[in-house]
Parts: sequence; structure tokens; C-alpha cells
Amino acid sequence: MPSVVTIAGSPTHPSRSAGLLNYAAQQLEQAGLHVQPIIVRDLPAEALIHGRYDDQTIQAATAGITAARGVIVATPVYKATYTGVLKTFLDLCPAGALAGKVVMPLVTGGSASHSLALEYGLKPVLAALGAGLIVNGQYFMDSQIEVVNGTELNFKDQEAEAKFRASLDAFAAYIAGLTQK
Ligand SMILES: Cc1cc2nc3c(=O)[nH]c(=O)nc-3n(C[C@H](O)[C@H](O)[C@H](O)COP(=O)(O)O)c2cc1C
Repeated sequence: MPSVVTIAGSPTHPSRSAGLLNYAAQQLEQAGLHVQPIIVRDLPAEALIHGRYDDQTIQAATAGITAARGVIVATPVYKATYTGVLKTFLDLCPAGALAGKVVMPLVTGGSASHSLALEYGLKPVLAALGAGLIVNGQYFMDSQIEVVNGTELNFKDQEAEAKFRASLDAFAAYIAGLTQK
């Protein structure tokens, strides 16, 4: 079964951006994909801060990325870009970790002011990790989404939800295309 890894880059719980990944996982699993979550805040903090590539938990996480067909990365905007927590993990991913994979970036923010954090913050770092096929990135404002019961995402904006669902369908179709090759 082709697999997808999700990477949650928020340091907080509950988290809107992590909720988006939970929503995505449910839809992708219904489409027959196996989804493996990586929640960066649950990884060993000392290994992240000290740059320990050889930490077993970090290595297990990056091995999951290597094996995956698709990767979805979600982060809140912090100070106009992706979080430092996410960066500590991406810095430990091997060179070319995202090469040959379908990659979808998702960003949440308090306002529309920093929506370009998706284009000018997150996408360049994904490209630096080898991502060639970056599909349907989407920026969500806090007014459009809420987390209920700790992890479940509820859309307050039906248009944003419909666009996200269509993006996930396209993401799954790309993965199916890769799998047939
Ligand atoms: C430390 C911090 C910095 C933030 N910086 C920004 C910012 O620069 N621009 C913005 O639009 N929202 C900013 N926000 C709001 C968050 O991006 C927003 O609430 C996001 O949806 C939180 O996602 P999460 O629930 O997954 O952590 C900031 C929030 C925090 C806690």
C-alpha cells in the first residue's frame, strides 16, 4: 500500500495545523493510502536541538519519509514564517529526503498578512530537500478552521474545506500515478 507521511510542525497541542493533517489522513485513508504521522513536538527535544542525526527516534522518522510516496507538511506561521520546531526536524532530514515524492505544504496563520509564508518560507525549504512536485499548497486563517475534541478539525469556511478536499484528491491521484510507474 503506498504510504504518506504527515509532518506536524506546531509546538502546541491542540493545534489547528495538526488538525488539518488529521483531516487529510482520514480522507487519504478512505482513498486507500496508508498514512504515518510525524509530530515533531513528540520527537526527542534534545536530539532536535543538538542536531543528533544518529538518534534512533529521529532516524525512524526520517526513514518513514524516505519510504513514503507522498509527504504533507503543516505548520503555523510564527513570526512571518514556518516554526523553528519544524526547522529543527527538517534540518535532520537527509539531503534529497523529498526527492521523487509528491509534497503538499499547509500553513495556518492568525491573519492573511503572512499568507506568503507558504510561498517564500515553507516552499523553498521543501525544494531544498529535493521536492520537485509540490502540489496545491494551501493557507488557512484561524477564522476558517477550529479544532474540536483535541484533534478533530472543523471547517467554518465551506469554500476552504471544498478546496482542501479537492487538493487531497489531486494529491492521492498524483501518488497513484507515481505508483503505477
Ligand atoms: C509565537 C507565535 C507567533 C505567531 N506569529 C504569527 C505571524 O507572524 N503571523 C500570523 O498570521 N499568525 C501568527 N501566529 C498565529 C498562528 O500562526 C495561528 O494561530 C496558527 O493557526 C496556530 O497554529 P497551531 O494551532 O497549529 O499551532 C503566531 C502564533 C504564535 C503562538
